[in-house]
Formats: sequence, structure tokens, C-alpha cells
Amino acid sequence: MLIARRGDRLEALAKELSGRHGVRAEWIEADLAAEDGLARAAALIAGLQDLALLVNNAGFGTRGYFHAGSLEEQERMHRLHVMATVRLTHAALNVLIPRGAGAVINVASVAAFARSSFNTSYCATKSWMTVFTEGLHLELREMRSAVQVQALCPGFTNSEFHDVLGVDRKGIASWLWMKAEDVVEESLRGIERRKWLVIPGLVYRVFAIVMSKVPLRLRLALEARNPQRQARR
Ligand SMILES: NC(=O)c1ccc[n+]([C@@H]2O[C@H](COP(=O)([O-])OP(=O)(O)OC[C@H]3O[C@@H](n4cnc5c(N)ncnc54)[C@H](OP(=O)(O)O)[C@@H]3O)[C@@H](O)[C@H]2O)c1
Repeated sequence: MLIARRGDRLEALAKELSGRHGVRAEWIEADLAAEDGLARAAALIAGLQDLALLVNNAGFGTRGYFHAGSLEEQERMHRLHVMATVRLTHAALNVLIPRGAGAVINVASVAAFARSSFNTSYCATKSWMTVFTEGLHLELREMRSAVQVQALCPGFTNSEFHDVLGVDRKGIASWLWMKAEDVVEESLRGIERRKWLVIPGLVYRVFAIVMSKVPLRLRLALEARNPQRQARR
């Protein structure tokens, strides 16, 4: 089941998946940052008794100082990254836990560890997704459930994300970019190995460790070099 806002894109993707893999791919058009769209999606997931995997993937970025940006956009990001993850994960776990199988992947970001300025709500909501997933992992382990949760924390990945954000991808060094397929492969390998946290790519694993130890004063100096901050159209 594919869920997003643009029905034409979903229909085309569903056809492509059916043709390529011989599966029945269904889709619904829903804005997960809006109450009605989220309620419909949650009800649908709650009714999928054969649900195997939920991927909370929908997300977007913003740029600029928090106070200077649109409050509506900041709130929309929190509804999508936080509240949609809460509602859809709750619906999914109530199907998966009684069955004792399946997984939830929450697509966070390596920004959960960077916590940079200019990107405040994004880093905060992606950190929240990571901490939320860690807590669920602990609960499932305590319950000895076979159900798995994973916080997937990618770095720069080729997709439409930076186009939507209005950042020129050419302004970011080519060696920093990962293919979406490679990110997905590492995530699924993480599910096989029962890892609750997956940071695809060695460079980003090192980055996450370093950034969580760098003192604030040094982080301020590094901010000026933040490629996302510099890479404007
Ligand atoms: N690309 C990167 O460098 C990168 C790095 C780290 C983490 N991530 C995370 O990876 C996830 C996937 O992003 P991506 O790179 O694939 O970006 P993308 O190409 O822009 O895809 C975002 C997807 O989310 C959907 N979406 C956005 N807002 C939505 C809403 N309100 N309701 C329902 N669906 C919505 C979009 O479809 P519609 O527009 O049709 O709704 C689209 O399918 C995001 O959570 C992002 O934060 C990306």
C-alpha cells in the first residue's frame, strides 16, 4: 500500500511495481500532515491483518532560521514527522504484536545526530523519531516480541528531497551522495540482523559518532561549512 498526496505519481508507481515484480500494488492519496488524511491512513493500516512492514517515510526539509520561517510549515513538519509516525506506528504495532511478526521502519536522518542550526525543526523531529524508535525497541525486547522497529538515518541521498527544499544538489560534494537503492538495501539488511538503528554508509556512521561528541563551540565554527546551508540555487 503506497500513501502520499500526488495520486498520479502513486498510480504510475503502482503500475511500475506490478509490472516489474508481479505484485498487486495499491495506493491511496492522503496528506499525512492533515487530520483527515492521517485518520484514513491509520484506519487502513489497523485493518490490514496481513501487514508485514510499515515504512514511515514521508518527510520534507526546511531551510533558514526557525523564527524567520513560516510557522505553518514548521507545524506541518512536526505533524508529518512526529504525529503521523505516532498514529501510524500505533496502528501497525496493534496488528503486528498480536501476530508476533513484522516490522516498522521510521525513516529519520543523520540530521538526528548533527543537530545543526538553519535546520532546527528538521533535526529536532528526526532526533525525536530516533529516540521514539529506540524506546519502542526496548519495549519490544522487554516483551520478547519478534516484531522489530528500526530508525533509519540516511545522509545525503539522491531523491526529490533537495529539489523540494530548493537546494542545488551540485553544490554538495558528489562523494557524499548515496543511492536510494543502497540505503534501502542497508535498511533491509538491518531488519535481517535485528538492528534498531541503521546509518547507511561508513562516512555517515563516522559522522554520527563524531557529531554527537563535538563541543558546541566547534559546532558553531563548522556551521558556516554546512553544505546544505551553502548549496543554494
Ligand atoms: N534525500 C535525503 O538526502 C534524505 C536524507 C535523510 C533523510 N531523508 C528522509 O527520507 C524520507 C524520504 O525522503 P526522500 O529523500 O525520498 O524525499 P522525496 O523524494 O521528496 O520524497 C518524499 C515523499 O514523501 C511524500 N510526502 C511528503 N509530504 C507528505 C504528506 N504531507 N503526506 C503524505 N506524503 C507526503 C512525497 O509524496 P507527495 O509529495 O506526493 O505527498 C514523497 O513521496 C524523508 O523522511 C526524509 O526526511 C532524506
